[in-house]
Amino acid sequence: MTANTEVLLGDCLEVMGQIETGSVNLVYLDPPFFTQKSHKLVTRDRQREFSFDDVWASHTEYAHFIFERLQEIKRVLHPTGAIFFHCDRNASHIVRILLDEVFGAENFRSEIIWHYRRWSNAQKNLLPAHQTIYFYTLSDGYTFNPQFGEYSASTNVDQIWQRRRRDENGKSVYELDENGEAIPNGVKKGVPLSDVWDIPYLNPKAAERTGYPTQKPVLLLEQIIKIASNENDLVLDPFCGSGTTLVAATLLGRRALGIDISEDAVAIARRRLVAPTKTESNLLLLGRDAYKSADEEALALLQGLAFVPVQRNRGIDAFVTSDINGYLVPIRVQRPEESIPEAALHLYRSASTKNAPLMILVALREGGYFAFANELPPEVVVVDGPALSINKVIAEFLRRREADGMLQAHPPSA
Ligand SMILES: C[S@@+](CC[C@H](N)C(=O)[O-])C[C@H]1O[C@@H](n2cnc3c(N)ncnc32)[C@H](O)[C@@H]1O
Repeated sequence: MTANTEVLLGDCLEVMGQIETGSVNLVYLDPPFFTQKSHKLVTRDRQREFSFDDVWASHTEYAHFIFERLQEIKRVLHPTGAIFFHCDRNASHIVRILLDEVFGAENFRSEIIWHYRRWSNAQKNLLPAHQTIYFYTLSDGYTFNPQFGEYSASTNVDQIWQRRRRDENGKSVYELDENGEAIPNGVKKGVPLSDVWDIPYLNPKAAERTGYPTQKPVLLLEQIIKIASNENDLVLDPFCGSGTTLVAATLLGRRALGIDISEDAVAIARRRLVAPTKTESNLLLLGRDAYKSADEEALALLQGLAFVPVQRNRGIDAFVTSDINGYLVPIRVQRPEESIPEAALHLYRSASTKNAPLMILVALREGGYFAFANELPPEVVVVDGPALSINKVIAEFLRRREADGMLQAHPPSA
């Protein structure tokens, strides 16, 4: 732990009572969400289990618990301060009303949707893929550091960089100088950050994972802290759990105070602060498209077939979606540099782990594969791709013509 970071054990309502009025610049809280569950998780080495309870007698009991703590948070906030309240669909409707009540609806700033992708079994509703973070302030004069992202591929950056004006009909047109040239609009920093944040959930192998249930990614907290605080500001997390907020605050040069009622949580947070680290997200660094490694040319050959492309798999290009008795039918297109047996081997190696009884290989070149047919695994069926089929039809046509003695010495000129 550093001199600028502290983690205290206890009910945050009582502990906040010891904090000086108006001394905190930013509060982030991720309290129990009214999930009506006991959250449990074992550490990666399976040596320990951590848990906390989120079971309530009623919505009223939960609302009362939150309301009392919000009032204390309001007291400790600096007049330029902000609160970010993390919740989900279980209680977001209750929390929003309480925040309006305590901070005033006029001090509502944003409803942030933290969106992530997670796999789960199909249920009789839509797969939950977001949580909500409410951003309120104490006043209009709040700290706000705008953040920018990259322009999307479809944005015409040339146009953004030219100054515009309204013409006599109120239409937006490019402004031109006396020589009829476009006037630069100054360098743009990028697209202002929106209220929908696509930040991956912590993966099970992430280095920053502590084994504490409902641990949030440092990247999420970094974004909040950058927006609403400056260096040396004091950041408070009254339900700090494994200390994610404190790690992010420390990495960004802020002072931080965490409180938690669980001894395990306090111990983990203190341990984490000895060497604060964050796991970079390759998804964010490289972009989602970087993970799309399916070969577009190969997939183009499957047009007309119902299939799902397979990413990051050397052996399978797609699964045909009309599955046989619940088995998936993997399909691979032969690559220019491969022979049929090589392509079949790649397909077989990947698909046999999936228990596929039928594997389809699309052949693109004459490889005399009938010669190897009995060397191919029995599950692999080779079909001709369009180019190969056409070449074979032409070759067969020429062969028959020749046999009939009808082949012209020279093909008809165009
Ligand atoms: C959702 S977890 C926080 C997870 C945390 N954001 C992280 O990244 O690890 C909620 C935490 O609130 C704590 N808690 C519950 N009631 C509390 C209270 N009255 N005062 C302080 N902490 C409390 C629980 O022990 C739990 O660690």
